[in-house]
Amino acid sequence: MIRFDQVSKQLGSKTVLNEISFEISEGETFVIVGLSGAGKSVTLKHMIRLMLPDAGTISIDGEAINHLTRHELQRVREKFGVLFQSAALLQWMSVRDNVALPLREHTDLDEKEILRRVDEKLELLSLGDAGHKFPSDISGGMQKRAGLARAIIMDPKIVLYDEPTSGLDPVTSRRIDDLIVDMQQKLGITSVVVTHDLHSALAIGSRIMMLHEGRIVENAAPADFIRSKNETVQSFLESQYITKKGKWEEKSHE
Ligand SMILES: Nc1ncnc2c1ncn2[C@@H]1O[C@H](COP(=O)(O)OP(=O)(O)OP(=O)(O)O)[C@@H](O)[C@H]1O
Ligand SMILES: [Mg+2]
Repeated sequence: MIRFDQVSKQLGSKTVLNEISFEISEGETFVIVGLSGAGKSVTLKHMIRLMLPDAGTISIDGEAINHLTRHELQRVREKFGVLFQSAALLQWMSVRDNVALPLREHTDLDEKEILRRVDEKLELLSLGDAGHKFPSDISGGMQKRAGLARAIIMDPKIVLYDEPTSGLDPVTSRRIDDLIVDMQQKLGITSVVVTHDLHSALAIGSRIMMLHEGRIVENAAPADFIRSKNETVQSFLESQYITKKGKWEEKSHE
């Protein structure tokens, strides 16, 4: 459903994406990892054409998106919900109003129906009591969940998550992981998750792709990813104390 074909992108003097090709199927939880600056966010931005490639093609459900009209692009973008790197809630609006925003901007639904849908999503994300609160009055984990409620308020087929667990403690991070899995199981959503957190990648990913210096160095199911022979992948795994068994062990215990 999402396909990159020989996509290249230069930003400044850097070739951020260098002829990368990959495919994401419906219902996958596809994880993208890589060092800071590897081009993970840039890759996500290409999926919704917030960035255009210099070369190559990106297709969504078989439709190349490079040359769509504004109207056609809008239709493609409606398939996506996006949770950006900084949960990006508007600070001067309540959680409920933040979540309602896309419905108010893009639909003609009446206020009653808008509130019904917002409360349904808040409930789904265990934020039933937080609707009237302001972003600055709730915890980081709750802010991420509110951002996620907003990302799925239009019932998208695909959700893009950019660093959904960054800045969260391990317990809260695991809760967000569970939610991503829930989104897939309860709502059939296809997820694309960018993360630094390999533990999270291994726990939720149907596949893990690693970007490095403009190229894809690995794209495999978690069990194969941790056995990758690629040196970049191996040192990335070691940096997070993950052994070939996928365990979370200190190196000295190996
Ligand atoms: N709009 C832009 N203009 C110029 N350079 C950019 C732009 N956006 C990204 N870059 C550069 O492209 C490279 C990849 O950026 P990207 O944001 O995709 O990294 P990332 O893998 O998401 O890193 P992080 O893990 O730190 O979020 C970086 O070198 C960045 O400086
Ligand atoms: Mg990024």
